Amino acid sequence: MTCQQHTHYENLHQVTHPLLQHKLSLLRDKDTSCKSFRALVFEITVLLAYEATKNLAMESKIIQTPIKEMQTPVLAGKKAVVLPILRAGIPMVDAFLTLMPSARVGHIGLYRDEETFEPHCYYFKMPKNSEDRQVFVCDPMLATGGSAVETINRLKQAHIHNLVFICIVAAPIGVENLLGHHPDVTIYTASLDEGLNAQGYIVPGLGDAGDRLFGTK
Ligand code: PRP
Ligand code: URA
Repeated sequence: MTCQQHTHYENLHQVTHPLLQHKLSLLRDKDTSCKSFRALVFEITVLLAYEATKNLAMESKIIQTPIKEMQTPVLAGKKAVVLPILRAGIPMVDAFLTLMPSARVGHIGLYRDEETFEPHCYYFKMPKNSEDRQVFVCDPMLATGGSAVETINRLKQAHIHNLVFICIVAAPIGVENLLGHHPDVTIYTASLDEGLNAQGYIVPGLGDAGDRLFGTK
């Protein structure tokens, strides 16, 4: 089994596939270059997205193969939405689009206040009819959970309720905060880490995902 439902949190799924876990170890290494870090976030997200999309609705369609007519399964309903939390969620979009090239893309811009860790929203734009679509919210880091909770609050205010949250590394307090506020959300992650340090960074984590992706520190 390469995806496990967490024993303490029913809606938390940890993807334990060996390729993903190997790539996560490379990602955590402080000596991994900016270029490699970006590529690894993409590759890890492809593997997370593969699992996170496993419950997409299907319907049956009649097609004609070169040999005969057959009934065959296809995705049902409106195209899904990928919603990166800016900035660090940006490279996760292309990973999803590799698997679902027709998906729509929303954007939410949030940054954490460095002292209070409170999220501040500076941008929010969703594709039309998002309330009828499955939305995959992407952010590599679920730390205090403030950014994730704020994102889901805004989505629900816009009547968007069919939500899956994808992150690469999660802290237990972030999972509790997100599922405490939004028990209907399903989380997929590559790792549930030990906790947070005094600066609000995940321990052992991988440092500041945005800075490592974009070379800003
Ligand atoms: C990071 C990360 C998350 C947030 C997680 O972004 O990408 O969005 O922190 O922390 P939380 O769970 O405590 O809210 P940051 O605020 O550093 O912004 P950036 O992506 O623009 O660098
Ligand atoms: N944001 C990050 O980029 N890293 C952390 O460890 C916590 C929040």
